[in-house]
Amino acid sequence: MKDFKDKIVFITGGASGAGLGQAQVFTAAGAKVVIADMNRQRLNEAIKSGAADYAIKLDVTDRKAFAAAADEIEKVYGETIDLLILTAGVNTFGPAEASTYDDYDWVVGVCFGGVVNGLVTFVPRMIKKGKGGHIASTVSWGATEAGPSTAPYSAAKAGVLNLLESYYNALKPYNIGVSALCPANINSHIYEAALNRPENLQNTGYNVSEKTQGFLASIHKNGLDPQVLATWLKKGIEDNIFLVIPYDQAPRMIEIQYERFRYLTYPGGEADLAAVRATPERQAESGKMAAIREGYDVRAAGPIVPPPDADKDAPPPVFNFDTGGFGMAKSDLDFVDPSKKYNG
Ligand SMILES: NC(=O)c1ccc[n+]([C@@H]2O[C@H](COP(=O)([O-])OP(=O)(O)OC[C@H]3O[C@@H](n4cnc5c(N)ncnc54)[C@H](O)[C@@H]3O)[C@@H](O)[C@H]2O)c1
Repeated sequence: MKDFKDKIVFITGGASGAGLGQAQVFTAAGAKVVIADMNRQRLNEAIKSGAADYAIKLDVTDRKAFAAAADEIEKVYGETIDLLILTAGVNTFGPAEASTYDDYDWVVGVCFGGVVNGLVTFVPRMIKKGKGGHIASTVSWGATEAGPSTAPYSAAKAGVLNLLESYYNALKPYNIGVSALCPANINSHIYEAALNRPENLQNTGYNVSEKTQGFLASIHKNGLDPQVLATWLKKGIEDNIFLVIPYDQAPRMIEIQYERFRYLTYPGGEADLAAVRATPERQAESGKMAAIREGYDVRAAGPIVPPPDADKDAPPPVFNFDTGGFGMAKSDLDFVDPSKKYNG
């Protein structure tokens, strides 16, 4: 898809952060943008600011409501969408072994289930429309890693990445392109999500408080501007790129990121991988790339514009603020290693 003029675009999570940036960029490109989100107030603000043409309050985990939203669009515009952007997402972090069913049901339900619901709702309609089109999702750099404190989120995002690749291959005969946008740090409101979990999914194993989320907010302040990110996506859609990594060094970043698997296939492989990662050249290269992705020097934890060369003698990351036990388990979980529990 190269021309967005008068195209009908549907964006989940379109009231804030990455989704709002996408709404602004595609509206500016002449598209009729429909945003869907749980947050009514931010939807109203987005419409008032001219970021989008139309807004629908939608919980992406609600399949009936998703179908109703698709029907509503056909009523309003006379036809279904040309471009589907599935961006709604939430996160919360803590040791994998502390994760509860609620942690999985909430995070996987929104981040993976919301994408499934979008695809099942809209793909048949887009095929029937017969005009091709494009589908994108804001996945995450987190899809490529499996952090010890990010299990539900990383698993959901890795699942989305895999799922989108299936659709990328399946939808070629219909001239419908598919793109997976995989940014690292974005300047957004995602740190608010864990404080606003649905009432029926609040039994978490993680230590979450105003303080932990304040820490997360301070990290996201250094993140990529949502409109800059959306511009990367727009270019990716124009070029029909599957994996849209919003950094100039994308091929090398991905190469380094996935090299770990070959070392996990034989005894002693982890030690070999550690040796590769410990070389000064690799340390410098990885440090620089991590700084580009996160928006700050992850080793010195200072703001950076542009990212400095990583200094191999720099001290390990120390943030100058209280994390409040971010990424740790609740104190009352008696089976969790004490060093992973927050007792503050
Ligand atoms: N912030 C980051 O650093 C980062 C990095 C990589 C990927 N992402 C991904 O980007 C996407 C957008 O997040 P963001 O960072 O812009 O956060 P954000 O909180 O600013 O925006 C997300 C929007 O999704 C909405 N939402 C949440 N649950 C919903 C639901 N069940 N139904 C409908 N809407 C719902 C929220 O109300 C919010 O408006 C997410 O999928 C997130 O995982 C974020």
